[in-house]
Amino acid sequence: MMREPISMSTSEGRSAAGNASMTTNENKDKPWPPAGIDWYYSDGSTAIALGDCRLILPHLEPVDLVLTDPPYGVGLGSRKNNNRERIAYTQTADNDETIDGVLSLLDVALLMSKRVVLTPGVKNLLRYPPPTHIGSFYYPAASGCNPWGFSCWQPILFYGKDPYGGKGSKPDSYQSTEPAEQNGHPCPKPLGQWAWLMARTSLEGETILDPFMGSGTTLRAAKDLGRKCIGIEIEERYCEIAAKRLAQEVLNL
Ligand SMILES: C[S@@+](CC[C@H](N)C(=O)[O-])C[C@H]1O[C@@H](n2cnc3c(N)ncnc32)[C@H](O)[C@@H]1O
Repeated sequence: MMREPISMSTSEGRSAAGNASMTTNENKDKPWPPAGIDWYYSDGSTAIALGDCRLILPHLEPVDLVLTDPPYGVGLGSRKNNNRERIAYTQTADNDETIDGVLSLLDVALLMSKRVVLTPGVKNLLRYPPPTHIGSFYYPAASGCNPWGFSCWQPILFYGKDPYGGKGSKPDSYQSTEPAEQNGHPCPKPLGQWAWLMARTSLEGETILDPFMGSGTTLRAAKDLGRKCIGIEIEERYCEIAAKRLAQEVLNL
């Protein structure tokens, strides 16, 4: 599946999610997993593609929500974590250039989805285009250090319309002390925390895409919450971890 990578930018893409004009009702009648992709793994509601999301995205149909936790460009692996381990992605560098790639992809995500929700990391927050709204994960026990003290929050960027109608009907933030599972990925998101975000930003039966899948937390949550979900991951070892997690029974989240 060798195609030209998606090029950087197009400003018109940034307004597409806000229009929410795209309908994916037709998705219900379409075959699953979607045709035209050589899937690494698939089951009745989830599908994983191994590869560079910039090459795979042009082959995908519109989805209801892009929900993702992209690389943070913080030099993952260049210093030790809380367990004094040096852990890094093996195939991609976690640097400023990676963030440029993520930003170029955001334009495409906004064109192919009604909503885009992502966790940019505090360091990159101001590099992203202005979202419709900003929420947060709040960590009372802190999740690291920064030049101004303990890191007690992580921003969530919301692009597009609230599927629950907005107007204060549901919270935009979530407090969490849940540790992530040790699954072999350097920075998996805690499942309960991510499931809250998915339930908050999508409706049952909708189709979700995570172009930076990692160990498959988005797909695992989707399976447990009755959504369809496509994940794309550039590293095979993380696809393997995700496939194993998906092979387990549906969890009661
Ligand atoms: C922050 S991690 C996601 C972790 C995930 N939320 C989890 O719970 O496991 C970002 C992931 O994006 C992947 N990645 C980086 N560049 C990519 C690209 N161009 N296409 C697909 N995946 C990519 C990295 O290998 C990494 O696993």
